[in-house]
Amino acid sequence: MMNKKTALVTGACINTGVAIVEKFAAEGWNVIFTGRSPEKVKVAEEGYRVKFPEVQIHGFAIDSLLDERTVDEKSVDELFETLDRMGVFVDTLVLNAADQGLGMKIFESPLTDLMKVINTNVVWNFCLCEHAAARMKEQGGGNIVFLNSNTAYRAIPDRVAYVTSKGGQLGLMRALALDLGKYNIRVNAVLPGMIRTERWVTNPDFYKTVPSRYTPIGDVADGADVADAVYYFAAHARNTTGAELVVDGGNTIQLYPIIPQ
Ligand SMILES: NC(=O)c1ccc[n+]([C@@H]2O[C@H](COP(=O)([O-])OP(=O)(O)OC[C@H]3O[C@@H](n4cnc5c(N)ncnc54)[C@H](OP(=O)(O)O)[C@@H]3O)[C@@H](O)[C@H]2O)c1
Repeated sequence: MMNKKTALVTGACINTGVAIVEKFAAEGWNVIFTGRSPEKVKVAEEGYRVKFPEVQIHGFAIDSLLDERTVDEKSVDELFETLDRMGVFVDTLVLNAADQGLGMKIFESPLTDLMKVINTNVVWNFCLCEHAAARMKEQGGGNIVFLNSNTAYRAIPDRVAYVTSKGGQLGLMRALALDLGKYNIRVNAVLPGMIRTERWVTNPDFYKTVPSRYTPIGDVADGADVADAVYYFAAHARNTTGAELVVDGGNTIQLYPIIPQ
């Protein structure tokens, strides 16, 4: 895997992660990706290899947590040591995986509901950055792209943990950009609004009524729209770090949503 650049994409057996892997592979990059289930990782890996025979694609099963309170730092160590042994240098780390923290209720949910989301979306991502950036520093540079969310700026109901984690993740992105710039490591974030994912495929009418339709662009993003933004930071944005690229059809710029007639 020495003659091409390599991207590591977390959470890439389904949805947006797949679009990101496919974008990098189509651009001729080798790709490392993760998922939590060994079976799903194997199936995804086989599918990617058939579709992109000209690049190398390897999947690894890795979970962020040992339990709700504890980040599995050892498995991140092992992942990067395995990549070292394979001779793989991660030029670009894409932090796509996220705990969606669905349905959290302020007065009813246990504290661990908050902790596990923040542990995955902030602490585990920091751990991945630390391991990747140490190697990027040795190699003279690299870059990191967070899949953040426009909910970092505009809250949505019953998602306290998720919204909190995405706000914290933006702070992490800026702090890392500041501290790692001197090593030629760029750190940026893509902030999608609603993305068309498998979750809604069974309900195509859903997209006709979601609030994200009532935006200047009038549509939600496809995974490929988000992947293009990630790829921009990775491949083209040589003098850009600590930046945010919002991909939400203009949703966040509105004081009032466009009301359909
Ligand atoms: N979908 C949207 O409308 C939307 C909007 C704004 C921002 N975003 C952001 O865009 C990114 C991708 O969104 P998506 O909807 O495509 O994501 P998704 O369908 O929820 O999938 C995310 C991936 O995260 C992995 N994951 C979840 N919990 C994990 C854990 N504890 N440890 C390790 N991996 C874990 C999942 O792995 P498994 O395959 O093992 O389950 C999955 O592959 C996320 O960062 C999300 O916050 C999404």
